[in-house]
Amino acid sequence: MSSENLRSVKVEKENGITWVMLNRPEKRNAMSPQLHLEMDTTLAELETDPETSVVVVTGAEGNFSAGQDLKTFFRELENDPAGRKRAAEAANRWRWERLYMYDKPTIAMVHGYCVGGAFMQLLATDFAIAAEDATFCLSEVNWGILPGALVSKALVDTILPRHALYYACLGVPFDGKEAARIGLVNYAVPKARLREETAALAQKLMAKSPAVLRATKQAIRSVRTMDFGQAYDYLAAKGQAIKVADKEDSYHTGIRQFLDEKSYKPTYEPFRLKGAGKADKTK
Ligand code: ACO
Repeated sequence: MSSENLRSVKVEKENGITWVMLNRPEKRNAMSPQLHLEMDTTLAELETDPETSVVVVTGAEGNFSAGQDLKTFFRELENDPAGRKRAAEAANRWRWERLYMYDKPTIAMVHGYCVGGAFMQLLATDFAIAAEDATFCLSEVNWGILPGALVSKALVDTILPRHALYYACLGVPFDGKEAARIGLVNYAVPKARLREETAALAQKLMAKSPAVLRATKQAIRSVRTMDFGQAYDYLAAKGQAIKVADKEDSYHTGIRQFLDEKSYKPTYEPFRLKGAGKADKTK
């Protein structure tokens, strides 16, 4: 499915940042089976797209997403087990399997509504920035269903159980500032600055070695379920792997710039990579 054929997803590329937008604004970007299939294909293509260094997942025209489409994803598929399975598989694949360990950094940019099943992509992305006036809600309890797929699991993996219980059991809305306070997003900014702040974070990510960044993300995610012995072993092996994969040779470059050239303080700034901001072609 090429991007010209997309109906429910919009893709915009700009200087290494690819903005992937759920695009059903008239339905507050509620997620239909068609949208899930298109997102699955789009994210698969972008993972190896040379023009894409960072993926921003968001929603078109002012809303992140109103969750699963209660009509086309739930009610219309109630008596269609094959269609339901196909849609659910695509939904879970792009919102979790693809995004969680995506080869490139991912950012959720949240404005307007972020409800129910939209928490999956919110929690699977590496970073999240919200508009201060965004509206979050785990509304499932109000529909007589659970925060399903992996929402409940990913939620307690991200925020403290007290906050997870409060918002999942009460199903009350909260804003972007509260989302930042409980650690659901990295930070909240005024709506007028949301896009520029998101782009600024993407630029910072693009200044790093893609291979080192990828390995760091994989390590942070993977060690969560390891014991200390396993983590020692895994991190030592991963550290060796970086030396082979990092075409930028960040380690030796940084040491040289710090010790010999005295031009670099890693606590405050990344060294300038050759070709910084270009897509990673080292994989
Ligand atoms: N599923 C299907 N259609 C939806 C959904 C949804 N999740 N959310 C909004 N829509 C549709 C509405 O039915 C309406 O369609 P219509 O124009 O054909 O009548 C259109 O989008 C606009 O919605 P409004 O309710 O008119 O918009 P408003 O801005 O007043 O409210 C809000 C937005 C608060 C998001 C409201 O639509 C809402 O509560 N939606 C349900 C959100 C929800 O609970 N999602 C979780 C679903 S369960 C899950 O994801 C696992």
